[in-house]
Amino acid sequence: MIDRFERNINNMRISITQQCNLDCFYCHHEGEKNEGAGVENGHLTPPEIEKITQIASQVGIQKLKITGGEPLLRKDIVEIVKRTAKHMKEVSMTTNGVLLKKYAGALNGAGLKRINISFDALDPTTFQRITNKEFFYEVKEGIESAICAGLYPVKLNMVILKGVNDKDIQVAMDYASEIGAVLQLIEFEGSKEESGNSIFKKHYLNLRDWENWLKSRSVEVRQRRMHRRNKYILPSENDGKAEVEIVRAMHNSEFCQNCTRLRVTSSGELKPCLLKNDNLINIIGPIRKGASDKELKDLFEYAILKKEPYWRA
Ligand code: 5AD
Repeated sequence: MIDRFERNINNMRISITQQCNLDCFYCHHEGEKNEGAGVENGHLTPPEIEKITQIASQVGIQKLKITGGEPLLRKDIVEIVKRTAKHMKEVSMTTNGVLLKKYAGALNGAGLKRINISFDALDPTTFQRITNKEFFYEVKEGIESAICAGLYPVKLNMVILKGVNDKDIQVAMDYASEIGAVLQLIEFEGSKEESGNSIFKKHYLNLRDWENWLKSRSVEVRQRRMHRRNKYILPSENDGKAEVEIVRAMHNSEFCQNCTRLRVTSSGELKPCLLKNDNLINIIGPIRKGASDKELKDLFEYAILKKEPYWRA
């Protein structure tokens, strides 16, 4: 479906739990601050998630990204992937990788295509500093299992934090190209209010200079439709290629103008924008009351029409 800003809303991101086994100091929790509409009745069940996905497909959403919290903390994660994959052209996941070694093969078998793994630290000390946990080696094994299981592409999400991991960007590029993963450099993001807080001020790094650096070294630049993100292809050791994407959302009106995503919170609300919480539409309530597909579709359309760019020129 096309929204008021002529954007074709064709992808959805659903949070299936707020729980996480890491505690990253920068985390935006997918924009979920409070417990919402359905949470008092427990989290969304696999059939409910499937229902939401099925209605989404009826309004033109073709791609789904499953996220959390940490989605692999749900014991029924394989079933969730299987059920949603029936209705989507592509189902992917964002995970912190801690439990991935155990699940990579089964996820692939269930129909998961691509996977994004948070990978902000290149050594255990930095990992501990960012996540407050000691799972560095588990995550590395998780990443390598995802590659072995045939999930493709594997993208490594690296949120750049000034004074913490900005020194490691080059090492991360080398590691990613060595194992055949795409490195995604992500600018530390926060709402207008959050960007005033001290953690943000201390660690925010504008990735403009890194983007120029990549541009000057790349042999090819591709642009993704989603958010108009650029992807840079660089030469790497042994005639290989390194693929690096940059996600720069902060104060970026072009990024928002090209946002084609609808979100679903872990408590069952349609969420038009990561950074806004005053325009959520409860969908799980009506599902649990037995609303018709037509009624649910209307709620989706209503939520899509509430989408508006957060950062504007
Ligand atoms: N800024 C940018 N990206 C973030 N993520 C989480 N919090 C932030 C933030 N404040 C990203 C991480 C993680 C994904 C789920 O969300 O890359 O992999």
